Amino acid sequence: MKKISLIGAGQIGGTLAHLIAIKELANVVLFDIDEGIAKGKALDIAQSLAVDGYNVKLSGTNNYEETKDSDVIIITAGVPRKPGMSRDDLLGTNLKIIKQVAEGIKDTSPNAFVICITNPLDVIVMALQKYSNFPKEKVIGMAGILDTSRFKHFIAEELNSEIKNVNSFVLGGHGDTMVPVPNRTTINSKPLNDFIKDGSTTQERIDSIIDRTRKGGAEIVKFLKTGSAFYAPAASGVAMAESYLKNQKKTLPCAACLNGEYGIKDLYVGVPVIIGEKGIEKIIELTLDADEQKSFQTSIDAVRELFNAAKKIDPSLT
Ligand code: APR
Repeated sequence: MKKISLIGAGQIGGTLAHLIAIKELANVVLFDIDEGIAKGKALDIAQSLAVDGYNVKLSGTNNYEETKDSDVIIITAGVPRKPGMSRDDLLGTNLKIIKQVAEGIKDTSPNAFVICITNPLDVIVMALQKYSNFPKEKVIGMAGILDTSRFKHFIAEELNSEIKNVNSFVLGGHGDTMVPVPNRTTINSKPLNDFIKDGSTTQERIDSIIDRTRKGGAEIVKFLKTGSAFYAPAASGVAMAESYLKNQKKTLPCAACLNGEYGIKDLYVGVPVIIGEKGIEKIIELTLDADEQKSFQTSIDAVRELFNAAKKIDPSLT
């Protein structure tokens, strides 16, 4: 059995543990600075598995030694948003936390595939890679699958289609500048634009879906009042771990460190990547039209600007 350690056993961490267990994907170690939360959730989920007879071991800890030799590490340690906050407002607090996490995992699990979920995503995953010095193809951020799922959900609702028949990609940073790509969206293999042409929907309605997708996380924060979304982020993280552990080589939109692709170097940003047993095996370069390219550039500029703010907080990142 493979081993997945979850650093952060809060809302997303607990949901990750449950999903991993009911897929029998790996044994799970839940790590949290609050040892009780980690132990309590591990025990509760382990007892739930007795109902259906799933064969997975779970444990909870606040000691990095117990995460030793993990195949996959998924990081959600950090604070979530409160209503009215942007993801960027979390930077100062979560940067300090991610530094501690990098120290904790770098010697104990040097060969792990590391998936970061903590926000503000693109900058935190970039800091994590620098702090840990893990290979770039082994450090990845979860955002694009989540943003794409939100977009696909709204499109499926709008066109009364089954979600499994909707295909799409959301690119760019995980923030208000993310780039849903309607031109690459199909429903039952039919381009989204055809549904505008035949009157099934309108450009205005698609524009408002794009806007709602960009603010999809904030909409949930406002409803929940305490904490942010956790079911969809956890499901997205598990898809990435599964593609790695089972060498599925799925093409998934994720935050990856670009090395010249899209004309960008040394910056984490959301793009389609192939995840297999080597980690990020390929970054897929989509041909963008002029509008998409412009929106992508705006998103990249926003990520770069926030990383510059991170460097001011911690000059060791330069
Ligand atoms: N090491 C380990 N765990 C930590 C640390 C640390 N240094 N600091 C905080 N934690 C733990 C907290 O004790 C808490 O249990 O991280 C957990 C975070 O859980 P929640 O507050 O429930 O947050 P969650 O909804 O899971 O989101 C976590 O993911 O999507 C992002 O914006 C979100 O940054 C946030 C993160």
